[in-house]
Amino acid sequence: MARGRKLWGGRFASQTENSVEAFTASIDVDSRLYRHDIAGSIAHAKMLARQRIISARDAKRIVRGLQAIQRGIEQGRFPFSSADEDIHMNIERRLVQKIGAAGEKLHTARSRNDQVALDLRLYLREELRTLLVLLESLRRELARAAKRYLDVIMPGYTHLQRAQPVLFSHHLFAYVDMLDRDRERMSGCLERLNVLPLGSGALAGTTFPIDRAYVARLLDFPRISKNSIDAVSDRDFVLEFLSASAILFVHLSRLAEEMILWSSEEFGFIELPDRYCTGSSMMPQKKNPDVPELIRGKTGRVFGHLQALLTVMKGLPLAYNRDLQEDKIPLFDTVDTAKASLGMMRELVRQLRVKRERMLAATQDGFMNATDLADYLVRHGLSFRSAHSLVGRVVRFCLDHHRRIEELSLTELKRFSPKIGKDVYAYLTAEAAVQRRLAVGGTALANVRRRLKEMGV
Ligand code: ARG
Repeated sequence: MARGRKLWGGRFASQTENSVEAFTASIDVDSRLYRHDIAGSIAHAKMLARQRIISARDAKRIVRGLQAIQRGIEQGRFPFSSADEDIHMNIERRLVQKIGAAGEKLHTARSRNDQVALDLRLYLREELRTLLVLLESLRRELARAAKRYLDVIMPGYTHLQRAQPVLFSHHLFAYVDMLDRDRERMSGCLERLNVLPLGSGALAGTTFPIDRAYVARLLDFPRISKNSIDAVSDRDFVLEFLSASAILFVHLSRLAEEMILWSSEEFGFIELPDRYCTGSSMMPQKKNPDVPELIRGKTGRVFGHLQALLTVMKGLPLAYNRDLQEDKIPLFDTVDTAKASLGMMRELVRQLRVKRERMLAATQDGFMNATDLADYLVRHGLSFRSAHSLVGRVVRFCLDHHRRIEELSLTELKRFSPKIGKDVYAYLTAEAAVQRRLAVGGTALANVRRRLKEMGV
């Protein structure tokens, strides 16, 4: 095969326009699939020999040639060329250069369409396993931070207005649970993508007596695709991964946002590690939370990647279309962004320092014990609705006189209801309010302790 001639060039009368070559090439993006491409080709060659479609000698040459190519790529000695479009043809071209005629037999009973579908599944399967480890490690880091600051009380918010006191550890466990669902989504995705598409040919299957079950065993696929047309045109597994990632980034960006708020002077709840913050080129006093800001910011591109691929897939006629080549940038960039962001977030959680006094002090203002006073009255026989409106009047009184509820004297309190006794003061502390929320899922210390124990932290 002469240089400059396409592997598919037979039927063409003239050479491809240079601009078209540049426009259609994907090698700059898909070269990262080289290991998976080679693993798939080795399994395919072994199967071809086993089925006597090619000779054992040729298969051996192919396998050795591919292994040498892999070493070459890993040592930076591989001459990637955009004239060969993509990673599949770059490797095949090099194989033929290295081992001659035997190399030309590798593509028997195979198409780039089932080849690229295989490579993508192998790639994402590996990356998902890494991501699952990173997810679990962030979850555990959150649980460890919860343990470190187990009894720290902070204001819980609704509408970003102070609402009720909660344990900081309970708040962190909200993220532990979000990430647990992310983990489930990712592992569901992993399970569904674990299907061998190779053997589907371009779209219709192959006339050769291939053994797909053998290839599946070699590549550790528990299942084989059942419809060749679907196998080469399906990218559901990528869409699923991108949508699971979009939801993961909703969670990461909410946590990032809270870290940014909490580390501000206005909240002053936490201190982020210096080594994870940056300064300002103009204002010498600044310490900026750039890392959580970038996690929040990168969420935009992860959402965008999902939208991009949904749009690529929508309305594509069966089976393969070149549009599908556009699946790679969204996929690869989402994988890279998720891995980097999970790692960064884990470090932020590991190193943040909680200012427990500031958090507790913040629970003292804002009438965060108003619901507790209502509950107290309910325990003394009032209906919740009348207790609610009675406490509303207490709050109004306090606002008018610049007092907190617990600063009112017993005489003042009794004016609102004779049922209020002096035990109310102990009842209204933030600590007592937290401790009473014992029902499953509530913020009581005992509940958080149980969660930590369940996780073995
Ligand atoms: N680079 C292509 C892709 O990523 C590989 C498949 C090409 N198949 C084809 N019929 N042109 O989709």
